[in-house]
Amino acid sequence: MANEIFGKVEEMMKEIQSYVVDSPETMEEFRIRFLGTKNKIKPLFAEMRNVANEQKKEFGQALNQLKQTAEARLESAIETVTDLLDGEENDNIDLYAPAAPKNSGSRHPISLVMNKVINIFDKIGFSVAEEREIEDDWHNFTAMNTPEDHPARDMQDTFYLLNNPERLLRTHTSSVQARVMTKTKPPIRIIAPGRVYRNETISARSHCQFHQVEGLYIDKNVSFADMKQTLLYFAREMYGPDTKIRLRPSYFPFTEPSAEMDVYWGLKNETDYRITKGTGWLEILGCGMVDPNVLENCGIDSNEYTGFAFGMGIERQAMLQYKIGDIRLLFENDTRFLKQFTSAY
Ligand code: PHE
Repeated sequence: MANEIFGKVEEMMKEIQSYVVDSPETMEEFRIRFLGTKNKIKPLFAEMRNVANEQKKEFGQALNQLKQTAEARLESAIETVTDLLDGEENDNIDLYAPAAPKNSGSRHPISLVMNKVINIFDKIGFSVAEEREIEDDWHNFTAMNTPEDHPARDMQDTFYLLNNPERLLRTHTSSVQARVMTKTKPPIRIIAPGRVYRNETISARSHCQFHQVEGLYIDKNVSFADMKQTLLYFAREMYGPDTKIRLRPSYFPFTEPSAEMDVYWGLKNETDYRITKGTGWLEILGCGMVDPNVLENCGIDSNEYTGFAFGMGIERQAMLQYKIGDIRLLFENDTRFLKQFTSAY
C-alpha cells in the first residue's frame, strides 16, 4: 500500500520534470495541471491518512517537494518563454531600415518676422511689453489723443464687445503705450508686439486681424533725430546694411510731428513695380514724436520729458520676405503652407 502511494509521487515527479513547457500555451497547461485549483498534486495530499504513521513525515516531504519542483519549473518556464518572445520581436527589427521621418514643428512666418524685429530692438535696449487684446476706449483712443468724433472710433473700424460696449478689440498696439506710460516712470524703452483687430472686409490683401510691433522711447531730451537714427538702424538690420529710408510727413492723433517711413525696395522687376506702385519705395511704419497731450494724459510731465513712438505692421513684411501672395494664408493654419517654414528659425 505504502509503496504504491510513494510510486504515484515518483511518477508525478517524473511527469513534472519531463513536461514540455516551451510556449505561452503549454506554460498555461502546466500551471493548471500542477498548480491550479484542481491540480493533480492535491489528491495525493488526501492520501496522507492511508500512510503509516512512521512514514507520514517522509510522505509529507515528498509531496512538498513535488509542489516546489512544479513551482520552480513554472518560474523558469516563464523566463524562457518571455525570452523566446523577445527574441521573436528582435528578429523583426531591420537595423538597416531608414528611420521613420520625425515631423518637427515650425515657427509661423508671423512669429519669425516678429522675433526678428524684437531681436533687433533688443540689441539697443528695448524690452518687450505685452498687453491685453481686449481694451477699453480710454487706452485705445482717449489717452492716445483721439477725439470722440474721430472716424477711427466708428463702428465700421472697431469691434466692440457685444455684451459690453465699454470694451473693444484693440485697433492698434498703441494702446500698450498708454498701458506702459500710466504705470512706469521714464525712461521708458519698450517694444510691444501683438495682435490687433479692425472691422475690414477679408480679402487677399487685408484681414480683420493682423499683427503690429509698437515702439516707445521716453526720456529727457529725446529728439526727432534720435528717432530717425533708431529707425535707420532698424531698417538696415532688417533689410540689409545698404538699405535707404525716407520719412514722409503724415498725421496720427498721438504723434506730432508724424511721419511714415519707407524703405527703398527697388524696381528690378514687374512685381517691384506693383508692390511699390512704381515708386520703388515701400511703406513700412508710422512714427512720430509723442504728442505732449498723450504724455499728460498718462501722467508724464511733458515739460520734462519727450519721446518718440512708432508702429509697424508685420503681415506685409512677412508676405514680402516669404513671397506670400495672399494674407489669408497666414491665418488658416493649413499645414501644407506652414510646413514650408520648418527650416526657418
Ligand atoms: N498706431 C498707428 C497705426 O496703427 C501706427 C503708429 C504708432 C504711428 C505709433 C505713430 C506712432 O497705424
